[in-house]
Amino acid sequence: MISRETIEEILVRTDIQSLIGSYVSLKRAGSNLKGLCPFHSEKTPSFTVYPSSNSFYCFGCSAGGDQISFIMKMEHLDYPDAVEFLAKRAGITVEEHDSAQYTSRPKVDKKRLYEMNATAARYFHAQLFSDDPEAREALSYFTEKRKLSVATIKHFGLGYAPNSFDKFSKFMLSRGYSYDELVTGFLCGKSESGRYFDAFRNRVMFPIIDVSGNVIAFGGRVMDDSKPKYKNSSDTPVFKKTRNLFALNFARTACEESLILCEGYMDVIALHSAGITNAVATLGTAITAEQARLMSRYTKSVIISYDSDEAGQRAAARALRMLEEVGLTVSVLSVPGAKDPDEYIKTYGVNKFREVISGAKSKFEYNLSKVLGKYDINLPQDKINALHELENIISAVYSVAERDVYIQTVSKRLSVDASAIRADVDRIIARNAAAYKRGEAQQVRRDSVGYSDRVNPDFIKAPTVARNEENVLGLLLEFPEHRRSVFEGELLTEDDFFTELGKQLFLYLKSAYASGDEHLVTMSEVFSDEQMGRAARMRVGRMALTANGKEVLLDSIARLKNSMEKKAAESTDTIAALDALLQKKRNG
Ligand code: GTP
Ligand code: MN
Repeated sequence: MISRETIEEILVRTDIQSLIGSYVSLKRAGSNLKGLCPFHSEKTPSFTVYPSSNSFYCFGCSAGGDQISFIMKMEHLDYPDAVEFLAKRAGITVEEHDSAQYTSRPKVDKKRLYEMNATAARYFHAQLFSDDPEAREALSYFTEKRKLSVATIKHFGLGYAPNSFDKFSKFMLSRGYSYDELVTGFLCGKSESGRYFDAFRNRVMFPIIDVSGNVIAFGGRVMDDSKPKYKNSSDTPVFKKTRNLFALNFARTACEESLILCEGYMDVIALHSAGITNAVATLGTAITAEQARLMSRYTKSVIISYDSDEAGQRAAARALRMLEEVGLTVSVLSVPGAKDPDEYIKTYGVNKFREVISGAKSKFEYNLSKVLGKYDINLPQDKINALHELENIISAVYSVAERDVYIQTVSKRLSVDASAIRADVDRIIARNAAAYKRGEAQQVRRDSVGYSDRVNPDFIKAPTVARNEENVLGLLLEFPEHRRSVFEGELLTEDDFFTELGKQLFLYLKSAYASGDEHLVTMSEVFSDEQMGRAARMRVGRMALTANGKEVLLDSIARLKNSMEKKAAESTDTIAALDALLQKKRNG
């Protein structure tokens, strides 16, 4: 781990204006600089760099943050790699050592682990082409049973782990690696009696390669029906399975528009070998938030192409939610008449698969077919129920134009007059809006997520409090000199914040203060890029402030506490009102 002092030095030595200026052409605007945003397409500049506070913010797409978050977004790097990138640029040699901020782990030489994995991958690959009868069987598993070409096998570096408890490790020992290292890299196991054994035996091997080209792990598959079908590396110092995706090293250059997310290694390999090179897969686990965020750094939209069985479809619904949460446009593909994309391509050919992709269902269509599948629209009551469900779904869509498209679709599918549907939808929207005002926001939010604020979903539940929160946090972010009085004087606690994001930012600022981290160097590691953007917006709003900063801050804190109390009183009122209503019902 890189020490905080080093990161601070990197930030201090990285002039944000020249850093961003090397990617974006910037023009001076007062004390700030403006340019065309590199993160969304625009014709008039709304991307602003604030040299005095080492930050940037785009008023168009809400991207924002510091030098590190800029590089993370621009170069598609994760936090540690972005720090390293900036260190190199600033000519600072990064010495990895344990810092008090991180749990102290025994020092591991990552470079050596990468080399060890690469050596193992080359060994498994060579085994696949050896004369050994078992190896021949493995090769024919790939070429005949799975119909892979030798070119594809080479492209993915597929291999074979021999059917032996020590053949592989003997080879690795001869190359100078120790059993300890092999165990650390999950290539060997150690029995209770202290004997070492090869972790992968008699399996065809899939090396997992990160975006920098390092072999970080392996998956191994049996060649028959025995169990477990796959064995995947557990987490090691160079591999976190929840943070990586299979084949992203290949897909990264082909996925500007979209990524195809599959369940299995074999699906991805089948797609790539058929020329569809923007496919990736999770590594034997359900998709995680980290993977969703990772994808959002590389692409705008994701096409989910899971297995067609029930488990696959359930997993698809979950993936859809996770991916939308990070702001991706998501569609779901179904491959009728095949169990997975791999089988589909083998049966119907890649052109048919391309047709399926172009017809991939948007979220709305996906919901539409789910609702229509539930009802028999030839029955009047069913048709009405279906219509109502769909109207509710449409009313949650924010864009008027988008709503109109869906209204037309439903109108055609159910043969109901579009203007009647529109009137219903408008009524639902008006009703929901009124319900917000009546303080039923929480329930309504559950019904109509479309209105929600993705980055701070609690905002809508208490907009006044949330705005006051942003005020306070913006000031604390922008003016480090006022943090002392707030934190030492304990002027605020976590409970003064209503929204989860507000609480998180507050706690982060507090712990950064406690550890003497004025530059908030780990902020872009802790918060997602959208949350960084939101934090940047909070600061931007408070930058104009030049005098009486402390008083303004104290005043904002008072207002926040005040609105929070009001909010609390309101919700007890609502509960009291509901109780009274219930009582009345029971009596009447
Ligand atoms: P094929 O049957 O060879 O076509 O496999 P597949 O690649 O299509 O995989 P499948 O759809 O069966 O499973 C999806 C993914 O889940 C696999 O690629 C593995 O990463 C993982 N997986 C499947 N079976 C197992 C298992 O038994 N153990 C573990 N750890 N992971 C598994
Ligand atoms: Mn499969």
